[in-house]
Amino acid sequence: MNLTFIGVGNVGAPLADQLQRLGHSVTIAARDTHSQSVQAALNRNASFEVKAPIDAVRSAEVVFLATPFAANEAALAEVSSALAGKILVDCTNPVGANLAHGLQSERSGAEFIQSLVPTAKVVKAFTIYGLENLENNHYPGYGDLKPAMLIAGNNAAAKQTIATLCQALGWEPIDTGNLAISLHLEHMTLLWIQMARVQGLGTDFVWARLQR
Ligand SMILES: NC(=O)c1ccc[n+]([C@@H]2O[C@H](COP(=O)([O-])OP(=O)(O)OC[C@H]3O[C@@H](n4cnc5c(N)ncnc54)[C@H](OP(=O)(O)O)[C@@H]3O)[C@@H](O)[C@H]2O)c1
Repeated sequence: MNLTFIGVGNVGAPLADQLQRLGHSVTIAARDTHSQSVQAALNRNASFEVKAPIDAVRSAEVVFLATPFAANEAALAEVSSALAGKILVDCTNPVGANLAHGLQSERSGAEFIQSLVPTAKVVKAFTIYGLENLENNHYPGYGDLKPAMLIAGNNAAAKQTIATLCQALGWEPIDTGNLAISLHLEHMTLLWIQMARVQGLGTDFVWARLQR
């Protein structure tokens, strides 16, 4: 598939790299081709194409948004017309002061993003852990049990497309429901950060599903 990344920092770069190595065509939507993150991404993987944001989004089947939450409005403004009907993967998290929810838990960041691009098919994914687990999601010794990747969205076909990518990347995709459920996923992120980085558990843990 043709995949475009808006944001290739801690989150975007490893996802883009792994997806390119799985055989997808990856394009970076670069507002500045010389920026530190774009150059670092190219150093990591020279196969990435780099285009102006509007051209990168036009040529994409799936667009990943991996920008700081406060930058989302500006990042989407110049490409919103090209996002109509496309899958937009919301990899962002609204993180407020003292690990509170950045939108006061009144609505999810994903729904805010959907309101900015109403005709895109927004799917929340790749948000419930820190960057360390996006770099490396291998947890050997658990048999067929894979780390869980919880996703949410309003469009079933779009979620299936992203679930398939999650699976190829080594996650167990779990569809948690409509986009409004993203609020709970964003709280799971805050919990993960609290446990990993504040309480000192460290970053080498993930959520998994045991079911009967
Ligand atoms: N870090 C984590 O552990 C983690 C884990 C899961 C989810 N998240 C979420 O993922 C998102 C990205 O986090 P990150 O740690 O990857 O951030 P980061 O390393 O700072 O990277 C941010 C990327 O966004 C780009 N960017 C910034 N402002 C932009 C704008 N107005 N238009 C277009 N691109 C813009 C930057 O490009 P330039 O270099 O050109 O400025 C850079 O490529 C955040 O919402 C975060 O909450 C983070």
